[in-house]
Amino acid sequence: MSTPIPQPPGVPLLGNIFDVDPSNTWWSLKTLAEKYGEIFQIKVLGHRVVFVASAALAGEICDEKRFRKYVGGPVVEIRYTVHDSLFTAFDHEPSWGIAHRIIAPHLSPEATAGLFDEILQCTDELVSKWHGLGPDARFRPLDHLNRLNLEATTLTFFGKKLNCLDGPEHPVIQAMEDATSEAIKRPTRPKLLNTLVHGGKLKRATKTLRGFAAEMVKERQESKSDRHDLLWALLNGKDPQTGVGLSESQVIDEIVTMPIGSSTAPCAISAGILFLLQNPDALAKARDEIEAVLGADGVFRHEHVAKLAYVAGVVRETLRLSCAAPGFNIEPIPKPGDESPVLLAGGKYQVPHNQAMIIVLAGANRDPAVFEDPLAFRPERMMGDKFEQLPPAVKKWFGNGKRECIGKHWAWEFLVIVMAKLIRDVDFEAADPDYQLKQDGWFNIRPIDFFVKAKPRAR
Ligand code: HEM
Repeated sequence: MSTPIPQPPGVPLLGNIFDVDPSNTWWSLKTLAEKYGEIFQIKVLGHRVVFVASAALAGEICDEKRFRKYVGGPVVEIRYTVHDSLFTAFDHEPSWGIAHRIIAPHLSPEATAGLFDEILQCTDELVSKWHGLGPDARFRPLDHLNRLNLEATTLTFFGKKLNCLDGPEHPVIQAMEDATSEAIKRPTRPKLLNTLVHGGKLKRATKTLRGFAAEMVKERQESKSDRHDLLWALLNGKDPQTGVGLSESQVIDEIVTMPIGSSTAPCAISAGILFLLQNPDALAKARDEIEAVLGADGVFRHEHVAKLAYVAGVVRETLRLSCAAPGFNIEPIPKPGDESPVLLAGGKYQVPHNQAMIIVLAGANRDPAVFEDPLAFRPERMMGDKFEQLPPAVKKWFGNGKRECIGKHWAWEFLVIVMAKLIRDVDFEAADPDYQLKQDGWFNIRPIDFFVKAKPRAR
């Protein structure tokens, strides 16, 4: 006999519609995970979704022999904007493999190492900006980090310096917010309402994002640039397996996908600043390490990235506790002719053969079965052997298997460079010393209304 999967009581006909706030889905799921534990389900508009929130069950459904990425709900909605791109392609679509094989070599550890100087240059510009704000200026680090992220991705992937750290916010930032918020909200609304009332927002955001991408392509085609960067690969690369390249529309799909994927990094860094403010001992240790590794001339070079073991612990612990990418979707691999239920935890739970499941990282990443004092910020547990010995399921901040984040090496380089520079060169003060982390977001989550003051670090 299997155990029924817990479900909040809900209301007749509408089901659990009031258990999930459509404006802050992930916070609702975190709250439900805290209440119901390793697994729970909700039913909305006749659809049932199962949520997995423990390390053991997350580990089980990350087994690619039995399960795969589920392309449904918000991931299907964002296809309006990016079609069958890397992030949104169904398992059966050949476009995924073609794009993956063309793009992956340009996001490898070796390729991203070559982008160190450009990322550092953009980060230096942000640090100078924060140094110049004055000690009483109160600002939301996320707003500036979003700009930094767009600046760094556009420069490193597409070879264009936007200079978007200052001045009015670049329209792509609001367009990403609008497209992703719509993608999350649309599955929770009746179809007619989406078309009649909310259709315009997604259309306008898509136009902005695709227009931006088309501009990158046009500028490159008209320039004499010989950069062999990601944009070069998108425009000229051929899949080594099929010999096929990307169509113009597919190039635009992938250009739009990159800053949307990458916008998770500023969410993590913003939470990381908060964690360090709340943990001055960790900040002091990170500063000592950076001084020792950078040495007497204090010049930050790519070779230092791998030597910053404590900063790496800070970044991993930030990814664990912030859950900046809050979860991902999984479904059982279909077995033709076999519609028997899928057993989880050795038969303790049963789900239908085609059940969509979502891993809630706020549960798995803070599983008390794995972590002592799971809510504490302890970079030490994310270093060396201690990190290696953790179960893989609590290290899924970049997703899983074949559909794992293709930008993870770039993201790592960016996270370490930016965190190390901020730790080394900026003294932060929380504008509200009692601020407690509360997050919202769409495809990624970020601290709500977390404000700081900043000044050059006193030495
Ligand atoms: C802190 C930074 C980042 C985090 C935590 C993160 C997290 C994730 C996660 C969890 C997935 C899996 C999504 C799923 O299974 O549906 C994913 C996929 C993806 N990410 Fe990232 N990401 C980050 C940065 C980036 C960057 C910098 C890029 C741009 C190069 C990027 C581009 C993508 C793409 C294109 C996919 C889809 C891959 C595929 O399905 O083949 N991400 N990311």
